[in-house]
Order: sequence, then structure tokens, then C-alpha cells
Amino acid sequence: MRLRICVLSLLISAPSFAYAQDSNSLTIDGQVMVTETAAPAHMENVDTIYSGWRFRSQETQAMEMDDFDNPAFVFLDKAYELWDAVDGTEGKSCSSCHEPEDFTGLRAQLPRVEGEELVTLEDLINRSRVEHMGAEPWKWSGTQMTSMTALVGLQSRGLPMDVAIEGDAKPFWEAGKEIYYTNVGQLDMACSSCHEDNYGMMIRADHLSQGQINGFPTYRLKNAKLNSIHGRFKGCMKNIRATPFKEGGAEFKALELYLASRSEGLSVETPSVRN
Ligand code: HEC
Ligand code: HEC
Repeated sequence: MRLRICVLSLLISAPSFAYAQDSNSLTIDGQVMVTETAAPAHMENVDTIYSGWRFRSQETQAMEMDDFDNPAFVFLDKAYELWDAVDGTEGKSCSSCHEPEDFTGLRAQLPRVEGEELVTLEDLINRSRVEHMGAEPWKWSGTQMTSMTALVGLQSRGLPMDVAIEGDAKPFWEAGKEIYYTNVGQLDMACSSCHEDNYGMMIRADHLSQGQINGFPTYRLKNAKLNSIHGRFKGCMKNIRATPFKEGGAEFKALELYLASRSEGLSVETPSVRN
């Protein structure tokens, strides 16, 4: 415990500007996004939730406000090519069976429980590839998958995040919550140490957000590509010198459900831009 306080106070400091998060409003293509709203009742320690967009610099914010300036759209062009590309033993492409618009609302409601399983967008896409196309599954955070999750997610842009957490989903949600609050790694920190206890503060040169997932996949200026939700979790775990869970594994899926429930009511911003 003493070590943790010590490490935190070394790393984290107040921002040199006045506000914990700015008050800019996000409009994309004339559509107003909800970037701030009352926290859902299950979040005991937080009153208001904010999109990560509110914590970024004005230059980074501007890139997300216009699809022509948003570098993620290079990957959407790629996704439209993949959409029409025949692959696998059945001689089919996504376009043989779907229109992108069929997926309106889907991003906002994932992950969800089917049978005994917690299912993410990546799972659904790979299920179609394997079972309906006779094709190889795509790698969880590979360019093909992140481009396609961006295309599917874009169909829900502007809709409120709204995952089910009761009933069958409850045990997965509880498991995710447990992970969120458990200290791990050499720095002995939990997700909550940064994204709940210290959002609005600076960690080195970075402005700490609430670690919301309403904008994924996210184009990051740091690596100039689309980043998956689990890829981001992995990066945060590495930063606190913890051994990350596996992308696509049960732990990260449960954590994804829990985080999605902490984004409730924020607009889907896919594809967002972050540093
Ligand atoms: C041969 C027809 C076929 C092809 C080709 C196909 N799918 Fe599907 N897809 C389905 C069917 C049928 C379902 C619903 C049942 C299921 O999930 O297996 C589905 C479900 C989905 C879902 C979940 C939708 C929801 O609301 O639950 C997604 C996302 C999806 N497909 C994406 C894709 C993508 C992306 C491709 C191309 C890489 C693709 N599909 C190719 C037939 C197809
Ligand atoms: C030592 C502090 C720290 C810890 C602990 C930490 N993160 Fe982060 N995280 C960051 C920083 C810094 C960023 C980039 C700036 C920001 O958005 O906060 C970030 C970004 C994120 C984002 C992207 C937010 C967006 O708007 O795109 C998510 C999601 C996230 N973290 C989830 C997690 C999860 C899940 C855990 C626990 C496994 C975790 N983080 C633990 C520091 C931390």
C-alpha cells in the first residue's frame, strides 16, 4: 500500500490548465455526440461520465470532428474493400449476405451473452467468416479485424451505449468489475487507480480520462493505426508492469462488458481519434 501511494504520487500530477476535462462539444457531420452524462446507478464512486474525447488536446479533438480529417477513414476504405472481397471455400463475401446498415445499433449493445458465452463484435465477425464463408478467422487486433469492427461500429455512431448487465450477463459483469478494481503488476495498480481515482490529472504528459470504450476501435496518433479494445487493455496492463490477459480471452471479454456498462448513455464515437 505504501509503495502504491508513493508510485502514484510520483506519476500523477494536477493539470496546468483550469479544468479536469474541457467543455467542448463534439459534433460530427452535423450529428451531436453525447460526451458527458450522468453515471449509471451501478457506478458508486463517479457522478458524471465523460468520453475520452473531452480529455484530448484541441488538435486531436478536431481530427474526430470531420471524417475527412479523421485518419481512421483510411482503414474504413480498406474495410469496404474487404466487405466485397470473396474469401473462403463458399465463394462468398460479406456483401453476399449483409448490408452495412443491417448492423445499426449492434456496436452499442456488445458484448452480449449467447448461451453460455459472452460474445464480442470480433467473435461475431469471425463466426461469419468461419461458419458462413468457410474462411480463416481474422486475428483479434489485426488490421483486417479492426477495419471491419470500425465499419460495423460506424453504423451505430451517435447511438447511446447500452449493454445488458442483468440476468445471464450478471456473472460476466461481476467478473469484469472484479478485474477492474484488482491491483496488479509491479506498480500494484488497478484500472480504477487511474481511470476512476485520478481522471482529469496528468500522468507524465498524458491527460488521464475515465478509460471509456465508446470510441473503439480507436485511431491512435502514437501508433498510426486502429486499436482494438483488448489491445488497449493490454497496453494499460503493460504500463503498470502486469502480465496482460490474452486478447479475446475470458478476462478481457468480461472487462469489456463491465467497461461498456460504465459508458452507458455516451454516444458511440467509432472510429474515434486519440493520442
Ligand atoms: C453466407 C452468408 C454470410 C456471409 C458471407 C457473412 N455472414 Fe455475417 N451473418 C450471417 C448470418 C446467417 C448471421 C446470423 C447468424 C449468426 O450469427 O451466425 C450473421 C451474423 C453476423 C453478425 C452479427 C449480427 C447481429 O446482429 O447479431 C455480424 C456482425 C456479421 N455477420 C458480420 C459479417 C461480416 C463482417 C462478414 C464478412 C467478413 C459476414 N458477416 C459474412 C451470414 C453471413
Ligand atoms: C497508470 C495509470 C493507468 C492504469 C492503471 C490503467 N490505465 Fe488505461 N490509460 C492510461 C492512460 C495514460 C491512457 C491514455 C489517456 C487516457 O485516455 O486516459 C489510458 C487509456 C485507456 C483507454 C482508452 C480511452 C479512450 O478514450 O480511448 C482505455 C479503454 C483504458 N485506458 C482502459 C484501462 C483498463 C481496462 C485498465 C485496467 C486493466 C487500465 N486502463 C489501467 C493509464 C492507465
